[in-house]
Amino acid sequence: MIRKGVILAGGRGTRLDPLTRVVSKQLLPVYDKPMVLYPLSLLMRCGIREVMLVTSPEWLPSYRSLLGDGSELGMEISYSVQESPRGVPQGLAIAGPWLAGEGCCFILGDNLFFGNLDPLREAMNLEKGARIFAVPTREPERFGIVEVDATGQVLSIEEKPRTPKSDLAIPGVYLFDGSVARRAESLQPSQRGETEICDLMASYLREDELECRELGRGFVWLDAGTPASLLEAGNFVSAMEHRTGYEVACLEEISWRQGWINEAQLADLARKQANPARRKYLQSLTES
Ligand code: DAU
Repeated sequence: MIRKGVILAGGRGTRLDPLTRVVSKQLLPVYDKPMVLYPLSLLMRCGIREVMLVTSPEWLPSYRSLLGDGSELGMEISYSVQESPRGVPQGLAIAGPWLAGEGCCFILGDNLFFGNLDPLREAMNLEKGARIFAVPTREPERFGIVEVDATGQVLSIEEKPRTPKSDLAIPGVYLFDGSVARRAESLQPSQRGETEICDLMASYLREDELECRELGRGFVWLDAGTPASLLEAGNFVSAMEHRTGYEVACLEEISWRQGWINEAQLADLARKQANPARRKYLQSLTES
């Protein structure tokens, strides 16, 4: 059973420069809240209460002041520093001592997921190996790409291939067993000088321990790493909120719905909101 989550929120954010000169990419606004709240909300909706956020030294204080230690949400949020961006899997090596041999759900801080999370929730009972997901894409050269056979068996994994073997992108949410930190530590940097998440997945694939599930149509995956996709994500959240009346990625609400905080604690959090609209929204939850 996966109980821990690791969010990677470092990197240089060069594709969003100059937006990222004075703000960490994963703190940029996606409509009405900082980007990192969306991946955090996904972990919470999958039942994960213990979270480690890995970021660069300069942004660590900002994340701490945004999220604190998680206790107000009935969670435990810890922080670690990646001194320089030397690869996505390094986040897992850094989280190793905190994971202490346990498996985790690893999520990239610029990946947003909406809709039916059942395939993810079901995967949380992983004990051994790794589980990845696949989503059809029209831009295979932008993502990690997985090739599967008719039975769903993974045949190959490639990072941003020039000649893709399939149109199935691997979104930035992964489930790994307790061997992940050790595996991440032993990876060698690729030609671009970084360790690669695809090599980490390949280490499971070589041992026949990698499973892939295609995420269905009720599921929306957005990655907010470019100006166009950032705007698209903001527009998407705005449309969802206006049409449904629900706030997307409202951490207080999720925590209350999960039973991690009670009604009185939710009311207390509502009172503390500086934004009157948010205060009203949180108060309305227990009135209906
Ligand atoms: O969005 C999904 C894709 O994310 C996957 O399909 C790819 O397989 C995966 O490699 C990744 O591709 P990106 O091109 O988005 O990777 P990028 O190098 O931009 O890093 C992903 C996130 O991790 C980004 O928000 C920055 C952060 N990061 C990255 C590196 C290399 C770190 O915090 N530290 C790092 O050292």
